[in-house]
Amino acid sequence: MPDGELQNIARSDSKPPVRLGLLSTSAEDLAVLGEACAPSTDKDKQEQMRLEVAADHCARSEPLGFAIVGMGRAGKIHLDVLQRVSADSAVRWLVDTSPEWSIANCPGGAKVTTDITDALRDACVDCVIVSTPTPWHASVIRLALEAGKHVFAEKPLCCDAAEVRELFALAERSGRLLHTAYNRRSDPLIEAALAELRSNVKGKPLGATLVSRDFPYPLPSYLKVSGNIFKDCVVHDLDYLTWLLDDAVVALRATASTGDDPEALVRACGMWEYSEVHLTLQSGATCTLVNGRVSTSYEHRLDIYCEHGVVRVPNPHEGTEGVAFSDRFAASHPCTGRS
Ligand SMILES: NC(=O)c1ccc[n+]([C@@H]2O[C@H](COP(=O)([O-])OP(=O)(O)OC[C@H]3O[C@@H](n4cnc5c(N)ncnc54)[C@H](O)[C@@H]3O)[C@@H](O)[C@H]2O)c1
Repeated sequence: MPDGELQNIARSDSKPPVRLGLLSTSAEDLAVLGEACAPSTDKDKQEQMRLEVAADHCARSEPLGFAIVGMGRAGKIHLDVLQRVSADSAVRWLVDTSPEWSIANCPGGAKVTTDITDALRDACVDCVIVSTPTPWHASVIRLALEAGKHVFAEKPLCCDAAEVRELFALAERSGRLLHTAYNRRSDPLIEAALAELRSNVKGKPLGATLVSRDFPYPLPSYLKVSGNIFKDCVVHDLDYLTWLLDDAVVALRATASTGDDPEALVRACGMWEYSEVHLTLQSGATCTLVNGRVSTSYEHRLDIYCEHGVVRVPNPHEGTEGVAFSDRFAASHPCTGRS
């Protein structure tokens, strides 16, 4: 269609224009979007360290001491999990900078503070869980590693590829573990797809399509500092899809948009509501990831097309309205979802 016709259509439509962005395909964009977890050499070193720390922990009788920093939605999930494994772990500190923050069910013995240094000074704290909003992850992780604590951080580790590498290098120098909480890797349906792929019954993966629609719509306070749709939502899918396929991204093209509804422009706080990412992998396989924030229920499906059939991650709540991300992925937090 010639440009002129496009302009006529735009003029005859009284609605505001759709916000549309095309991300560049530069190597740096790819690094930030696709490399939210450690580079592979660092991951091998971290795995070795994980085994050593686990062995060390098994040899002592004390439970592992935890501090949780950031007691919002994610922090409360981590607290819930730790309370259920109380034989192996003890929550020592709950840290949140908000004076309005409170918790009805504070676990026995845990202290509450707005100052992270209280928790970091405590020798009974072995590990810090970082569940602050994303822009504060890096500074909290740095403080915790420098204080000699292991760190379990919410996704994305941070929004800058160079900073991700720097944090893993600091963890290695400090001899401490740094783990990014990509909880989808622990979802039973995704683990089943991994086992099916590794069995090779359906042969080599040739491509994939993934649909993910978030629910409920986030609060403006979260959205504004979320890192936007790619680093907040798509990052989960980039992580687990490349993990399932055991393949590396060689090319990425991404577009994003926000609806033409004036309410959407206000609601979205300047962020994108929809995105599409097209990946080409080292093996030649091609993947399309379609994400959105507007939905009446959490929706997540993945089809991996292989030489001899499809490996699927279905939506177990198909047709049910009002399912939240925390319901869909409850079983990925082992103590809340599994018996
Ligand atoms: N894995 C998942 O599926 C999942 C789900 C939700 C959130 N997250 C991640 O968890 C993180 C937090 O998200 P949320 O939804 O819990 O946010 P939230 O807004 O519900 O809670 C954040 C809390 O951190 C506190 N806080 C802010 N700055 C702080 C600081 N410097 N020190 C201590 N506390 C501070 C706030 O007062 C608030 O209570 C984000 O990085 C997000 O990407 C992951």
